[in-house]
Amino acid sequence: MTLQNRLAETTDFIHQKGVDAVEFGLILGSGLGELAEEIEDKIVIPYAEIPHFPVSTVVGHAGQLVYGTLAGKKVLAMQGRFHFYEGHSMQVVTYPVRVMSALKAHSLIVTNACGGVNEAFAPGDLMLITDHINFMGTNPLIGKNEDEIGPRFPDMSQAYHLDYRNVAKQVAEEKGLHLKEGVYMGFTGPTYETPAEIRFARTIGADAVGMSTVPEVIVAVHSGLKVLGISCITNLAAGMQANLNHEEVVETTERVKAEFKALVKETLAAL
Ligand code: 6GU
Repeated sequence: MTLQNRLAETTDFIHQKGVDAVEFGLILGSGLGELAEEIEDKIVIPYAEIPHFPVSTVVGHAGQLVYGTLAGKKVLAMQGRFHFYEGHSMQVVTYPVRVMSALKAHSLIVTNACGGVNEAFAPGDLMLITDHINFMGTNPLIGKNEDEIGPRFPDMSQAYHLDYRNVAKQVAEEKGLHLKEGVYMGFTGPTYETPAEIRFARTIGADAVGMSTVPEVIVAVHSGLKVLGISCITNLAAGMQANLNHEEVVETTERVKAEFKALVKETLAAL
């Protein structure tokens, strides 16, 4: 079955559930899932019910689409995402972004939890993603190009839309929030990096490292979506602090989630 046919079946199903116009796709990463609870006039669709959607295996992720109005905008939010380290192919990881685009979203707001590589960062900082480094060893666009969707060789020179970045910075400033900025480097995981890998990451220009976001953003750019990316620095990367564990990631997202949610929501209002 072709991608187009699968997309048609998925979007038909989602339309039948009552979803109509979508302006913004939202990918709510670790700690930010609660933002979906603030969506008004919600339509909730568990991934397990959606044709051609895989089932998320990560604990702490709800695994559902939430549609409705947030900050006056029509949004389709992913409460929980699919990760490459779960064993899904890149095409599967990015299928929801294809669906958002097929539902006529014009923009994607993507969030994540990640490790700080920049020495000036501290756990709990929020970072506007200015650019990324794809270090996942593959690319979701490998294979036959769907010319109806996007170009064979997409330009990534402004993957994270400059106007959107400026709006987020403005909103942060008005809130008195010190929004960091930087380059996100995507690793496959599920291991955290070694100290040597983190020195390498810093040397080549990374400010933060994580296990998501890069595939979704590549597909968003391919589909012509404008992208805004915001990361929560949940911990410093290997070699910069004693040791790493998922509990700290969860603790930090819990600590800063109110601020993170407010920044995303108020930026969305201003876009
Ligand atoms: Cl240090 N690395 C990666 N790849 N992902 C993370 C992280 C580190 N901290 C939170 N998520």
